[in-house]
Amino acid sequence: MTKTLGLIGSGMIGGVLARLAVDAGLDVVLSNSRGPETLTDLVAELGPRARAATADEAARAGDLVVATIPLHAYDRLPADALAGRTVIDTMNYYPERDGRIAPLDRREVTSSTLVQRHLADSHVVKACNNAFYLALLTRARPAGSPERSALPLAGDDPAAKAETTALLDALGYDTVDIGTLDDSWRSEPGTPVYVRPYFPGMPPWGSSQDDLQRWFRETKAAPVTADLVKELTGLAVRNHAGERLPGRFTSD
Ligand SMILES: NC(=O)c1ccc[n+]([C@@H]2O[C@H](COP(=O)([O-])OP(=O)(O)OC[C@H]3O[C@@H](n4cnc5c(N)ncnc54)[C@H](OP(=O)(O)O)[C@@H]3O)[C@@H](O)[C@H]2O)c1
Repeated sequence: MTKTLGLIGSGMIGGVLARLAVDAGLDVVLSNSRGPETLTDLVAELGPRARAATADEAARAGDLVVATIPLHAYDRLPADALAGRTVIDTMNYYPERDGRIAPLDRREVTSSTLVQRHLADSHVVKACNNAFYLALLTRARPAGSPERSALPLAGDDPAAKAETTALLDALGYDTVDIGTLDDSWRSEPGTPVYVRPYFPGMPPWGSSQDDLQRWFRETKAAPVTADLVKELTGLAVRNHAGERLPGRFTSD
């Protein structure tokens, strides 16, 4: 059972997962690229269960670690410190942010397979990559709630997937196992399960973050059930080589 969650990356997704983890009674160790002293405000906001450290320390401190940084930096994840651990990979490939990564453009591998190759001694699980961060924050519900949603996950190691399922259960989500890391393209950008099903309508892009967050909290929507996740990931069609990936789903 995960007691301490390590986070490499403490931006939009890292911050939300830290919030959900603290609310679920876990300790969190946050890190980023600029150093722990730049995370003082976030740590204060999260309260006494949170602390900041270097990426290496966060990797070693976590029973389970989330890697949630821009994909272009995946080869800077601390492989030695992460050895033997389950690593949740939330990362998506956006060429306009990440630059061109040829094997991904050629659809030879999934982005998570690249991450797994770099973290050869860890067990990578792709999860939490297909929900906009405010949706991830506001759609979390306790187990048994009729409003509870599900998230897809993929990975090569059954025990790591079970560990991730237990963590996401505590954080407020059911999960649907969609296969191996090679299968994880079924939740990548541009697929039917990516971002849109978790939107309760059209968010007021351009509003302040506070207003946007309020909108996500107050706008009712049907849960994205496990059956719907299965259906949508089953409908996914892989882009042909060279086809442009759809743009980012953010307010910018
Ligand atoms: N935003 C979303 O709604 C969303 C949804 C699903 C998936 N994702 C994916 O999840 C990942 C994170 O997204 P995000 O929106 O949370 O990004 P973000 O807000 O830009 O945050 C990125 C974080 O990664 C840290 N970082 C960058 N390079 C690092 C390194 N080498 N070592 C340690 N930390 C590093 C940054 O720290 P510094 O600020 O100190 O550089 C920052 O804390 C991306 O791959 C994204 O595509 C995002």
